[in-house]
Amino acid sequence: MKLFRHAADLIEWRRENRLLSVGFVPTMGALHNGHISLIEKAKSENPLVVCSIFVNPTQFNNADDLKRYPRTPEQDLAMLAAAGCDVVFMPDEAEIYPAAPQMQLNFGNLEEVMEGSHRPGHFNGVGLVVSKLFHMVQPDRAYFGQKDLQQFLIIKRLVADLSFPVQLVCCPVVREADGLAMSSRNVRLSAEARLQAPALYRALTEAQQRITQGENPQMVCSEITRRLNETGIFSVEYLTLADTETLASVQSPQAGMEYALCIAAFLDGVRLIDNVVFRM
Ligand code: PAF
Repeated sequence: MKLFRHAADLIEWRRENRLLSVGFVPTMGALHNGHISLIEKAKSENPLVVCSIFVNPTQFNNADDLKRYPRTPEQDLAMLAAAGCDVVFMPDEAEIYPAAPQMQLNFGNLEEVMEGSHRPGHFNGVGLVVSKLFHMVQPDRAYFGQKDLQQFLIIKRLVADLSFPVQLVCCPVVREADGLAMSSRNVRLSAEARLQAPALYRALTEAQQRITQGENPQMVCSEITRRLNETGIFSVEYLTLADTETLASVQSPQAGMEYALCIAAFLDGVRLIDNVVFRM
């Protein structure tokens, strides 16, 4: 496995391998089996796989969250080597941002809901870094997790609006045995909070069941939110039924249509997100 820290070396490697298709998995490190499932999917569809590890400062709207974001580079490299990744790109901040970026991306309605409304500037930072990484890696396919559904839709918009010649692949959420969606942030949970955390997935499955049985989505989501908040352990930012393309909130779901139930909540000072996508 090759490790590049400079974009120029990565670009040179890409030039030497221009006839082979590259699958790209962008990450912020602190890798877990969810990331490894993306590497495996990329390997099954491309002769070469590149993974980037870069904790992108421009997508954090909270300095403390950036400081406390887990960093485990040695463990990450061992996991990627074991998974058969071909190239790791691990730049420092100056390599990606030689100067503070001035450009502002606007994703319209897509960024005005859910994560966008709770984390101002977040998707501008994601859009900037993903654009830069796409220019450097020049992937044929790029792999993202469905856990960050809104991020996937934002990147789909970015690719369409800026004509990036890359095919995007959305991969299923990978869960722990008790249902908790795998996330780099899970390691920050205390032992007690970790035991409570699967309640988020249980909330999503309960809501899905009740909505498919005909209950009103808004009433179901507010009742479950109230119940989670009343535990005193969770502080729910949103629980909402959304259209899977626009993420607009859905009040009257139609039979046969696909929807996403999305949740974000603080637990033990750690912000967790999760979703389920289902057909009515
Ligand atoms: O999903 C992530 O880990 C990040 O948002 C990404 C796509 C690597 C951009 O920094």
